[in-house]
Amino acid sequence: MTRPFLLSPSLLSSDYGRLAEELAALEAAGLKWVHWDVMDGAFVPNITLGAPIIGALRGRTRLFFDVHLMVEEPARYVADFARAGADLICVHAEATRHLERTCAAVAELGKQVGVALNPATPVDAVRYLLPQLDLVLIMSVNPGFGGQSFIPFSLDKIRELAALRDRLNPRCLIQVDGGCTPENTAALVAAGADCLVSGSAFFKFPPYKERHEAFLRAAGAL
Ligand code: DX5
Ligand code: ZN
Repeated sequence: MTRPFLLSPSLLSSDYGRLAEELAALEAAGLKWVHWDVMDGAFVPNITLGAPIIGALRGRTRLFFDVHLMVEEPARYVADFARAGADLICVHAEATRHLERTCAAVAELGKQVGVALNPATPVDAVRYLLPQLDLVLIMSVNPGFGGQSFIPFSLDKIRELAALRDRLNPRCLIQVDGGCTPENTAALVAAGADCLVSGSAFFKFPPYKERHEAFLRAAGAL
């Protein structure tokens, strides 16, 4: 099964005062996905943005909206994010009391379903859900801030998840978020990652087309 390599730039490191222009620039640079970091000030220390902002920008771009909910009990909000135009909704295993029910609710809303795992959460947390997931997100930093360093043991987790994924649901994507750069991309892809999120290592290095190509080249996709 071939899964194309994807880069999902995290708007957390973009210019929030110019989100519509940033989205247009990403699309013009050839990106297909964009990563929205939703933080609630409870599951993680920061507060970022919510469904109204995402909804206001939905009509501005055809980019795939990859929505990462760093929110306590996200079941309360998945319908709002679906209505706002999320294409994929990713909830944290640690923040969701009834994870199977919440994932089923996202699928029922017609959206792709993702589960994110914090660095200390074992891969086994998604073992039984894998057949019904579109994506598993391995957090390679503790969520809450951009610009942190990649936690090296994440590579072992990606390998472990890739083996499980290949056996149970080969179409499920493995996404990695936190400290991803063109320098560690080859190792991440070799371990089994399909989709990398990049905030600071992407937005701080314009032009976006060249930076995207640097990740693609490192992934062997260009
Ligand atoms: C962290 C967020 C990430 C973050 C990544 O809590 O989930 O998406 O923006 O930023 P970098 O790429 O700078 O580590
Ligand atoms: Zn994220």
